Amino acid sequence: MAEITFVPRDHNLYRYKGFCFLKDMMPPEFIDSLQNFKIRDDDVFLITFPKSGTTWTQQILCLICYEGHRKGTEKIDTTERMPWFESQTLNPVSDLNSLPSPRLFVSHLSETFVPKELKNKKAKVIYVMRNAKDVMNSLYHFQDILALAQKSPDFNHFFEKFMDGEVFAGKWFDHIRGWYTHKNDYNILFLKYEDMIKDLHSTVKQICFFLAIELDDEEIDIVVKKASFNEMKKDPLSNKENVPDSIITRKVGSFIRKGQVGDWKNIMTVAQSETFDKIFQEQMRDLSLSFTWQIP
Ligand code: A3P
Repeated sequence: MAEITFVPRDHNLYRYKGFCFLKDMMPPEFIDSLQNFKIRDDDVFLITFPKSGTTWTQQILCLICYEGHRKGTEKIDTTERMPWFESQTLNPVSDLNSLPSPRLFVSHLSETFVPKELKNKKAKVIYVMRNAKDVMNSLYHFQDILALAQKSPDFNHFFEKFMDGEVFAGKWFDHIRGWYTHKNDYNILFLKYEDMIKDLHSTVKQICFFLAIELDDEEIDIVVKKASFNEMKKDPLSNKENVPDSIITRKVGSFIRKGQVGDWKNIMTVAQSETFDKIFQEQMRDLSLSFTWQIP
């Protein structure tokens, strides 16, 4: 087994093969075993770096696939309809093999840890990415309500921690790079949070096309409405109010926070932003991936 190391600025995490896992919830033996998980051809995996729009896309996928807007299944906990693949403790479903098809899973895993059979290219992967500056900002605020988090005393401390990959899921750069450089190994659709904000109707259409699910324009409009920021902001399930207080506490804020593009400007200094840009250029230059948020 590869070496396990401590994460200096977060004692709730351990580093394993470049990824930072939650110590008490994700033992390395279990993580390794996931690579042999039996994949079905109609499985769909939503994969994100945390705070990139996971819950939002989960809502969209559940609405598209389970027609929640018509059958009232939106009243069911999202993790029941779409379990968190690498979490043993947070899922109400104990045996993922027993779920009926088609199965939807959500995961923050890097490309190296997902089931090998996903490479058969029949099952589908939807990867959502978001400007790392907004991810960082969102994750920083998330510390306020995440009881498990080892809180940074200020944003500067958090900035360093994030850039060094000492947060759950490790380095943002490595996560994107891993998935993007292996894109030809998977049946994968890349989405961007910023595009979803700009035109959700088109994104929903794109997802439907990828999943080969036919919804007419009226049905797509219902999905868009049910997955809108305002609808989700007032929905207790989307705000994880059913998650125990020992994990997410509701005293200081809500999970669905601001949902904006560029809110990082309210917290990041010019110097931090420039440091990020420089590292971004160095580490991502060779990827033929267009990051729309770079356009001023
Ligand atoms: P902010 O903290 O910037 O507001 P994740 O689910 O991956 O943890 O991502 C959480 C982020 O997605 C939060 O960002 C949250 O507000 C935002 N989000 C959740 N639902 C959304 C929606 N319907 N529209 C836009 N953003 C949404």
